[in-house]
Amino acid sequence: MAHAYEWWQTGVVYQIYPRSFMDSNGDGVGDLVGINQRLDYLKWLGIDAIWLSPIYPSPMADFGYDIANYTDIEPLFGTLNDFDALLHKVHQQNMKLILDFVPNHTSDEHPWFVESRSSRESSKRDWYIWHDPAADGGPPNNWTSFFGGSAWQFDEISGQYYLHMFDVKQPDLNWRNPVVKEAMYNVLRFWLDRGVDGFRVDVIWMMIKDAQFRDNPNRPEWKPGDPPYARQEGRYTEDQSEVHEIIREMRALVDSYGERVFIGEIYLPVPRLMSYYGEFLDEVHLPFNFQFIELSAWNAKAIRTCVDTYEKALPEGAWPNWVLGNHDRSRIASRVGKEQSRIAQMLLLTLRGTPTCYYGDELGMQNAIVPHEMMHDPQGKDNPIHSRDPQRSPMQWNSQPGAGFVKPGIASWLPLSEDYQQVNVQSEQNDASSHLIFTKTLLTLRRAIPALTIGSYTSVDGMPEECFVYVREQEGKRYLIALNCSAEEQKLSLAHIKQGNILLSTLLDRNSQVDLNSFSLRANEGCLIEIAD
Ligand code: NOJ
Repeated sequence: MAHAYEWWQTGVVYQIYPRSFMDSNGDGVGDLVGINQRLDYLKWLGIDAIWLSPIYPSPMADFGYDIANYTDIEPLFGTLNDFDALLHKVHQQNMKLILDFVPNHTSDEHPWFVESRSSRESSKRDWYIWHDPAADGGPPNNWTSFFGGSAWQFDEISGQYYLHMFDVKQPDLNWRNPVVKEAMYNVLRFWLDRGVDGFRVDVIWMMIKDAQFRDNPNRPEWKPGDPPYARQEGRYTEDQSEVHEIIREMRALVDSYGERVFIGEIYLPVPRLMSYYGEFLDEVHLPFNFQFIELSAWNAKAIRTCVDTYEKALPEGAWPNWVLGNHDRSRIASRVGKEQSRIAQMLLLTLRGTPTCYYGDELGMQNAIVPHEMMHDPQGKDNPIHSRDPQRSPMQWNSQPGAGFVKPGIASWLPLSEDYQQVNVQSEQNDASSHLIFTKTLLTLRRAIPALTIGSYTSVDGMPEECFVYVREQEGKRYLIALNCSAEEQKLSLAHIKQGNILLSTLLDRNSQVDLNSFSLRANEGCLIEIAD
């Protein structure tokens, strides 16, 4: 019997950072009505699901990842009515909508925390992680925040410290408290009842911390100036075994609503990452796979090792996924350069598993230059080079002042990337050799060719050192993906395969039969080839 695949297995996810996608009301900040206005573009592009970074009421200390009310919409972004209208239209267009769920911490302005910090006797005291000072009056242990400094904040009123693994305005919830769990499960129900198609769960592997509050080991190689989140090993603050039970509970709840997706944000080495599928595949459907984001060197050997290692480590029945970029890390086109970013896109969209595309990467958008005085991100407060603002710049729709994100004359909340006059939707839609047309063509082929979504994956040996070559196969139909990860021409010879048809080159200038016994890839060229024999 043919295996039936879920929508999130064959589909492509597109991440929208709502502040930066489309401003409909002239305040310089993107909003839900703006996203609604641009749905036709996403449909045209050919993606299947939209994941929205947080849209809930928030003081914006961490741009929405500090939530003051889990069951409403931030006024900057619109209203619940705007949300319902967006969800309705997304569904009408046959797409899905995935929300960001942030269970590890709330805003310090959330009424739960306001109540919790009001006194040691508060009925919600135990909703957060409070601790007495150490003997010398300092923080209870050495845990550091991802944004720098101690993860503990002293509260004068009650004489205790509260834990915040991120900003001081993001107190960590106490997930050992069953009442907290129930309150948060009700949040999931609220949005599922409204019809959302799933969740991306923020820092899901960090929800439980060591009950004994033991010190984390410091990383000896860390030096001031390195990213603050790399300072310590999260031995007692991350990946604690008890977290799995909570994830199973959440997954069961989500499953009870039918065909929904449950994605976990997890930065862990591959073997530990795999445990989040769950022993019985009963945890997250997709533990985000950030191997490409974390890759220190972009070359064929490193990429192949990364893919083969991940494929090999996948538990039986577990569905793979790939990510090139997100709102936390430098954009792919800035990391690997414009030429190689097409190779990266071809890789993302032809590997086995669900791809997640970060808004603007389909255009080849690069990090914006953000002057120090215009920076907002708390992660950049100690050192601007770690600010995430550059990868969050507004979507580039056209070459007008404001790039179509805001009307000319209105200042956007972050500056536009300098290249917006060339790199934008309108210009690229009219240029047959653009990054956008390349991505759209790739998405169209992916949709038309089952081998690219559900086929097997085999990497090919004996290729030039600078090339990564693999085959996707489904019911006897085979496709070769040959990627030249260098800026020099490379000659390939595939002894057992003779004829092929090039369906797409990253340079968009050849569709022809090729003799695969003797075949050349030009500098920075990748080809998707249908194997003829
Ligand atoms: C991960 C999110 O992706 C990031 O943007 C945020 O700052 C932290 N979690 C804290 O919520």
